Amino acid sequence: MKKYGLNELREKYLSFYESKEHLRLPSFSLVPQNDASLLLINAGMAPLKPYFTGKEKPPKSRVTTCQKCIRTPDIERVGKTARHGTFFEMLGNFSFGDYFKHEATRWAWEFVTKELELPVDRIWISIYEDDDEAFDIWTKEVGVAPDHIVRFGKEDNFWEIGTGPCGPCSELYFDRGEKYGCGSPDCKVGCECDRFVEFWNLVFTQFDKDENGNYNKLAHPNIDTGMGLERLAVIMQDVDNIFEVDTIKNIMEAVCKISGKTYKQDEKTDVSLRVITDHIRSGVFLIYDGVQPSNEGRGDVLR
Ligand code: ALA
Repeated sequence: MKKYGLNELREKYLSFYESKEHLRLPSFSLVPQNDASLLLINAGMAPLKPYFTGKEKPPKSRVTTCQKCIRTPDIERVGKTARHGTFFEMLGNFSFGDYFKHEATRWAWEFVTKELELPVDRIWISIYEDDDEAFDIWTKEVGVAPDHIVRFGKEDNFWEIGTGPCGPCSELYFDRGEKYGCGSPDCKVGCECDRFVEFWNLVFTQFDKDENGNYNKLAHPNIDTGMGLERLAVIMQDVDNIFEVDTIKNIMEAVCKISGKTYKQDEKTDVSLRVITDHIRSGVFLIYDGVQPSNEGRGDVLR
């Protein structure tokens, strides 16, 4: 497999979607604007919500971004798994009432198999349990083997966060091989271990969830995708975890230097080194976007 640096992967993705007539926008601030439902931006689509619901007109009906994100629910897993971080960059391509499932699916496949040249037999796909349309597109249009597609329920394959645009989704996984697995005979796509890593989520945004929990059908279906840049770098560079990819390992090396510790000598120390590296990334980007440590809200997250 070709090795690409994290910065090269970001550029490859954004220029690929520019070649599909998407407008490249810079990352929005981590601090949501005019959205009381969110403390911090946690997905590429979050700052774009008004375009999905039709409240505002987007500058173009196709947009691509690499969005800074903070996610804290998995904070206890950071440093222990290969793939969790409180800060990460999310690559996304978005359609506001323009293209839908067919194009989103075909282009995702083109990007991973033609641009990145990921080996097809190591890619797995999940779809929402009753989304036969997605199954047909993946198998008949794209040519994925039916036995590489799994169906999951609402918990895994229906994307929603707070109120706003949401819908069923389809995810791409990469099999990193047995050496990263848990060794259980039941280990397969969806296992909690780090063998099958979920790296791209294609959301078929068809609903707008309101405060009362109703799913209102949107006038035009949209596309919202999110690929974890750090996870993609782990796959392409075949390193153990997100803290060992080319750019992030520089931060961890600096942490080692300051603390006088050596990475890969003791697992407990390694977890600490990865946690500190993660928290430095979150802290720096939060402060850059104007958050100050305090006892409430965003400031408390930073503190
Ligand atoms: N909004 C989707 C996610 O964050 C793409 O997974």
